[in-house]
Amino acid sequence: MRHLDEEVTMPGRVDGKVVFITGAARGQGRSHAVRLAEEGADIVAVDILEDIPTAAYPMSTQQDMDETVRLVEALGRRILPIKADVREPGQMRKAAEAAATEFGRIDVLVANAGILSFEQEKFAAFSEVYGVDFLGVVHTVDAVMPYISESASIVITSSTAAMMENTTEKIGPGGMAYTSAKRAVARYAHDIARLLTGRRIRVNVIHPFNTNTALIQNPHMYKVFRPDLENPTREDAIPAFASTSPMGIPWMEPIEISNTVLFLASDESKYVTGQQLRVDAGQMLSVVSAGIPG
Ligand SMILES: NC(=O)c1ccc[n+]([C@@H]2O[C@H](COP(=O)([O-])OP(=O)(O)OC[C@H]3O[C@@H](n4cnc5c(N)ncnc54)[C@H](O)[C@@H]3O)[C@@H](O)[C@H]2O)c1
Repeated sequence: MRHLDEEVTMPGRVDGKVVFITGAARGQGRSHAVRLAEEGADIVAVDILEDIPTAAYPMSTQQDMDETVRLVEALGRRILPIKADVREPGQMRKAAEAAATEFGRIDVLVANAGILSFEQEKFAAFSEVYGVDFLGVVHTVDAVMPYISESASIVITSSTAAMMENTTEKIGPGGMAYTSAKRAVARYAHDIARLLTGRRIRVNVIHPFNTNTALIQNPHMYKVFRPDLENPTREDAIPAFASTSPMGIPWMEPIEISNTVLFLASDESKYVTGQQLRVDAGQMLSVVSAGIPG
């Protein structure tokens, strides 16, 4: 018989799972780390922690990573922060090895690190963006696979940009690379999902709509949305952002994506694989068909 004043602790939805997250120092990656830790996960938090020239907005800093660590530890969970660049296979191998040494295995991979470039002229931006947003995901999966547990879950962040035509062209080679990389990563996920189903390892892709992070909250993006103004502010850009969503919202908060990551990381989705899941406030309904014959 239980006492009425006895504390009842409910098991978390990802209790005891080891989750490896790239781009975890801020933005969506930090939000995923915190949301999953709230539900009982331990975290391996990987981030570059230095700027990438063509991105033209700052990447995360050590202070950002320290804050992610503080937030996860405040929930009573363990976190291993690692400085590594997803473009470098050797660094990613070392990161995965360190994760395995600390935790013994990896149960969930969230390949979230990504950049957008606003480079208008230099084609070098293409390789830099593609290097992070596509090859970076491939390097991360390669590095983690030797340590991934049976019935693991791999979650890859793409973008609704992968489903749009004639949008990122207006931000030059950097924007075009973003679209190409996000399409490539969606196809890659489909292919590896097929390879891994026999081992019951699941691979799913999330395609977010505008999300309130540094990737969109920067002067370059405001100018994309308000080319009519010389130096548009966030407030100037809000109506233009909102016009891209049939629900009329300019952007979502990272927690909206984290809750979907949580579902895909948990055993609640143990038979869900190969999905291209839009979290987009209806943005793509007029672009993408339901894919249902007849
Ligand atoms: N914000 C949006 O509107 C939006 C929409 C759709 C998809 N996405 C995607 O969501 C993901 C997360 O981005 P965000 O919105 O949180 O932006 P963000 O810029 O806040 O976070 C990206 C994180 O990735 C890290 N990073 C960048 N390059 C890296 C590298 N080479 N190696 C390791 N870490 C690296 C950055 O330092 C940063 O911490 C990205 O893949 C992005 O393309 C964002």
